[in-house]
Amino acid sequence: MALPPDRVVLITGASSGIGRAAAFAFARDGARVALAARRVEALETAAREIGERALAVPCDVRRRDEVRAAVEKTVHHFGALHVVVANAGIGLYTAIEDMTDEDLDAVFRTNVYGAVYAVQEALPHLRTTRGSQAIFISSILGRASMPYMGPYGMSKHALTALADALRLEVADDGVEVILIGPGLTATEFQRNAVSKVRGFIPAGDNAGGWPPERVADAILAASKKRKREVYLTADGRLLIRLKYWLPRLAEWGIRRWIRARLPEGRERT
Ligand SMILES: NC(=O)c1ccc[n+]([C@@H]2O[C@H](COP(=O)([O-])OP(=O)(O)OC[C@H]3O[C@@H](n4cnc5c(N)ncnc54)[C@H](OP(=O)(O)O)[C@@H]3O)[C@@H](O)[C@H]2O)c1
Repeated sequence: MALPPDRVVLITGASSGIGRAAAFAFARDGARVALAARRVEALETAAREIGERALAVPCDVRRRDEVRAAVEKTVHHFGALHVVVANAGIGLYTAIEDMTDEDLDAVFRTNVYGAVYAVQEALPHLRTTRGSQAIFISSILGRASMPYMGPYGMSKHALTALADALRLEVADDGVEVILIGPGLTATEFQRNAVSKVRGFIPAGDNAGGWPPERVADAILAASKKRKREVYLTADGRLLIRLKYWLPRLAEWGIRRWIRARLPEGRERT
């Protein structure tokens, strides 16, 4: 069932990058949007630029109470919630051998627990309208793994499992679950990512990355076409296929790609 044009959409990680661009894209399409993230000023600026159809709902997605408050504020202001986009995420690069409990905690608290809190707090409201949606922003690395991106890849694989399980649980309630896997996107993400491997910030200059607006348009299109799972870049889709059908070839290609980005070999900072 299609949602009304003025549907209410709550987006986490909306202070920059893909989430911010998604807020503008949904609003242009007629939606009312709630923008969530920690940077209050950036959120309020974006909400002001969008206009009266937007609301800033600052929160740290690592805190369930703050996510709950953001959902409640959204529902109180707009009277409903139809779509939640769990987009907030961070990157951390380390060899598995060097990965600490703190590394895993940092990535999972934001990328996995943050998404769990958003969808759990939104679900009672989504259930009231058939055709409501939970959208998870994953990555190509939610289906294929890369060396030195272990914790990040693990968190995105967790989102795949989360989306797959949730879809089966809420299908009878008419709630749709959509998983989006962007490839490299030109945002602050790579710059903000912590790297424990010297000289290794994959694509730190974002060269060749999609503009976030293009990813946002793809998220909006997936929502309107009620897709289940979409991987955005052609090379990302190829990698996922190769991984299953020709894994040795995929691994050979990945190791070559990584070697070119590790000029001094794998060194710890
Ligand atoms: N860029 C890429 O190449 C790429 C590729 C594939 C997938 N993705 C995924 O796309 C999503 C968005 O990333 P992006 O590229 O747009 O990067 P970005 O510009 O760095 O945006 C990340 C967003 O997450 C928010 N965030 C981080 N920690 C948070 C927390 N604890 N609580 C609330 N919000 C938090 C940030 O806002 P505050 O700092 O204001 O809290 C920011 O709005 C992520 O899930 C990322 O994994 C990105």
